[in-house]
Amino acid sequence: MISIHVNASKEYDVILKAGVLSEAGTLIREDLSRRRGTAGILRSRRICVVTDETVADLYGGPQQTLISSLRSAGFEVSRFVFPGGEDHKNMATIGRLLDHLTENRFSRSDLLVALGGGITGDVTGFAAAIYLRGIDFVQIPTTLLAAVDSSVGGKTGVNLPAGKNLAGAFWQPNLVLFDPAVLTTLTQDLLLDGMAEILKAGFIADSTAIYAALMVPGDSEEDAAEGAQESSSAPLYSFLRMGPAGPRPPIFDHPEEMMRLIAKAIDIKRAIVEEDERETGRRKLLNLGHTVGHAIEKCSDYGISHGAAVAMGTSIIARAGQNLGWVREGYGDDICAILQYFGYDLHCPYPAFALADVAYNDKKIQGNRITLVIPEYPGHSVLKDVPALDLEHIIAQGL
Ligand code: GLY
Repeated sequence: MISIHVNASKEYDVILKAGVLSEAGTLIREDLSRRRGTAGILRSRRICVVTDETVADLYGGPQQTLISSLRSAGFEVSRFVFPGGEDHKNMATIGRLLDHLTENRFSRSDLLVALGGGITGDVTGFAAAIYLRGIDFVQIPTTLLAAVDSSVGGKTGVNLPAGKNLAGAFWQPNLVLFDPAVLTTLTQDLLLDGMAEILKAGFIADSTAIYAALMVPGDSEEDAAEGAQESSSAPLYSFLRMGPAGPRPPIFDHPEEMMRLIAKAIDIKRAIVEEDERETGRRKLLNLGHTVGHAIEKCSDYGISHGAAVAMGTSIIARAGQNLGWVREGYGDDICAILQYFGYDLHCPYPAFALADVAYNDKKIQGNRITLVIPEYPGHSVLKDVPALDLEHIIAQGL
């Protein structure tokens, strides 16, 4: 078991443990009793498990481990199942979820549980943030992306017709529970979706995460640390000599190494969130590759997944930054080589003007300036404020 304590406006634990779904009821009860005392916990009777149709079949059935565990711990459990996908991450789904809560007489002391990927976590967290002006919720991520990124840090929200995540709230969970066994049910595309966020964390703040992601059996933590040290003085990552990983990155088949890597990525995010929970400064670094990535997702009508778009967006900004002298010479190419090693398709099918046009509507544009995240050198990214009108030219430099 690995437990990471997040000390944000609400303190909570992220618990990574095989079989944790069977303990969810007890863990939630214990957490509530720590927060509210015995009297408070007696009032908390209801849990609504929010999940999508695919995950409902896998882990959210009435006879399955999670719901049995919640019932055994004394909760009355209802389910809200919605169709998955970005098309349903919207205000209509939020409206239906809030109606479900009122129909089932949820009070301020009851809870929501988000069981699923990033979309489910964002929708559930947003509903929790606004129902009765805020109720508690627990994140149970079932994708790699949700485990390493969206379930931690309290960003919740939905898309509006004008763009992604344009309505939302910062609302921290009470607890995050991740069972690494779910990784075995994920397709390689879903694993790559999450790996893009792990690599992002490494590019932002800690190149040992990149080395850990590239680890093959026999490598040790010391090898990773040594590699990182070498990279901070040498312009090129030595592992680039390894060439592409082949059809499947080796780390996907090494559960122990994957678990350590996931914990490392969560810990990088934890440190950033603790410093700047409401994204007034340093947390913006977590948007590396996302301004262009969100534009790619929108241009593709969400046919290109979030992780694939973030990988493409990161490569575009890395190459553009290198061409504009903002990224250490050669490092932009290294980033692209690392992404290609994992098998990401870095060919962006959209022209710079189309991406820039979509990005103008992104909430991250304030006035006529936009903050870009520039991966300056290994394990270090910086924020760069540029005129929004320059965005098309900048993107064009990276295509
Ligand atoms: N996914 C970026 C953040 O949580 O800030």
